[in-house]
Amino acid sequence: MLQTIAGWHRTHYCGELNAQVIGTDVTLMGWVARRRDHGGLLFVDLRDRTGIVQLVFSSDHDQEVFDRAGSLRNEYVVAIKGRVRGRLPELVNPNLATGQIEVVPDELRVLNNAKTPPFYIQEDLDVEETVRLRYRYLDLRRPDMQQNIMFRHNVVKIVRDYLDKQGFWEIETPMLISSSPEGARDFLVPSRIAPGHFYALPQSPQIFKQLLMVAGMDRYFQIVRCFRDEDLRADRQPEFTQIDAEMSFVTEDEVMDLMEEMMCQVYAQALGIDLNRPFARLSYNEAMDRFGSDKPDLRFQMEMADISALVAESGFRVFTDAVAQGGVVKVLPVPGGTSFTRRELDDLTERARALGAKGLAWMAFTAEGVRSPIAKFFRPDLLEQVRIAARAAEGDLLLFAADQRAAANELLGQLRSELGERLGLRQGPPSLVWITDFPLLEWDEDEDRYVAVHHPFTAPRDEDLPLLQSEPGRVRARAYDLILNGVEVGGGSIRIHRRDVQEAVFSAIGLSAEEAQARFGYLLNAFDYGTPPHGGIAFGLDRLVMLLAGRDSIRDVIAFPKTARGSCLMTGAPAPVDAEQLQELHIRMEEKGSH
Ligand code: AMO
Ligand code: AMP
Repeated sequence: MLQTIAGWHRTHYCGELNAQVIGTDVTLMGWVARRRDHGGLLFVDLRDRTGIVQLVFSSDHDQEVFDRAGSLRNEYVVAIKGRVRGRLPELVNPNLATGQIEVVPDELRVLNNAKTPPFYIQEDLDVEETVRLRYRYLDLRRPDMQQNIMFRHNVVKIVRDYLDKQGFWEIETPMLISSSPEGARDFLVPSRIAPGHFYALPQSPQIFKQLLMVAGMDRYFQIVRCFRDEDLRADRQPEFTQIDAEMSFVTEDEVMDLMEEMMCQVYAQALGIDLNRPFARLSYNEAMDRFGSDKPDLRFQMEMADISALVAESGFRVFTDAVAQGGVVKVLPVPGGTSFTRRELDDLTERARALGAKGLAWMAFTAEGVRSPIAKFFRPDLLEQVRIAARAAEGDLLLFAADQRAAANELLGQLRSELGERLGLRQGPPSLVWITDFPLLEWDEDEDRYVAVHHPFTAPRDEDLPLLQSEPGRVRARAYDLILNGVEVGGGSIRIHRRDVQEAVFSAIGLSAEEAQARFGYLLNAFDYGTPPHGGIAFGLDRLVMLLAGRDSIRDVIAFPKTARGSCLMTGAPAPVDAEQLQELHIRMEEKGSH
């Protein structure tokens, strides 16, 4: 028969008990993690979120309690009163924080039973993630998941305390808003009261935080949920959390400075790691030219070189033609890459083709000389010059891309990151780098217009303003992204705070004055009433915590995440709704396939 905790008060958490409390009477509550039956002795591991402590029931001590303990099964919820005693030296368990002691219960109450769980509640688990997500409450009971959740709490607390000290106010912004462009699709919420009208869930609080600056709040932050209906990848969720901040009367350097200090506090307090300041900075162009990515992992070198000038006069047509056609020849060194087999090199070429390249030439600098299908086109001294330009040594492999600059950079950048992973180079002390001087706009082939690289509220460089009409693609943005170990963990900018500039940018992305007024009139109007210069940033909290905790998936640091298909396996969301609910919302479903 089940009992209650009436009259009992927990005195300790399981994981807190140690040799200092030997002889103390304790009241503990938790879950049965494991039960081992040794005849007249019964060992039960009792678990709560702090850890595990061993209970010892013996028939000598109390027959009735011993018998009741015999009925316990894994995950039963129990309460005990008992006394802490030291273990005999030979029974000390050095792997357990509470391994020096055990508890001898005088009383045992069974508070709840449990079915056999679909998987063991233990640290290392080899179970399909779908099962873990369906029974998330059991998955979260596992010690490593509880650690992740606690760690996330710690990070949030450090961030909050830091921003509070720096004079930021935490201000909530609405979740039901009108559609705002952040680059992804909006989730829409139909209005019952206004038929045919929809709210959008915020992709970020971008416009509201700017309006808070207009409102004179000076420094704002929020740990805030954002919603984006986009195709999900490993480090994306349809709802995710941002550390969102905005400040008035600041420059790029001031925002970056404050945020560097925040990252330092997080690393120091959460992990005991001291980061070097200031963080590295690379302009967008430099990052693309040297690493082929605007989110380079700088924990390893593998820096590309431009050898266009060197090979323009070589005998290799693929290279000379590319240069003649205004393209470039870039080379990526792969440390130790001479060990790649012919087969692996063919696979690399295939991979390059899959990424859109016409081919992938290679040279291996081995102890026996250069091995390469294209070496015959180069004089020996030219081969040597290429090696030097690529900063390669014996044992290294060089990969070549001959193409237009952007395509060559992107291809080798992608290979750099894949090979870095494969060669085990993505490790070591954290690499933090700011990427600056992004282009403001980029041409979108599908949409046949310029689109904002970040969002349309990002300020252009003052000196580039005249280019907005003549050469929009060359305007630089006052934007910055923070890259941690090759992952974009944050991004922000100085904003436009003048109506005329905002209108010019809207116009550059193909928004007519009427459309701009209809969609963002409230922002443009606000700019008419004294808007301070301002700027800010947002960090992806889930990604940040994932990287700090050394996890591979953001789902491991979110209590109730969604699958790659955007569904919640535990609650079944998204799910069909009643016809009545739809009727109230004035929504009629089309027959499947009628569209
Ligand atoms: P941005 O769109 O770059 O900027 O988002 C900021 C950071 O949020 C994280 N992030 C995500 N994390 C998980 N799942 C997603 N689907 C997802 N999308 C983005 C990234 C990213 O760096 N309003 C601007 C910020 C600003 O300008 O101040 C914004 O939202 O780590
Ligand atoms: P081909 O003469 O076309 O057979 O190519 C000779 C070598 O150059 C092969 O290893 C190809 O993979 C490589 N190659 C072809 N096109 C390119 C290119 N655009 N960039 C780099 N390598 C290329």
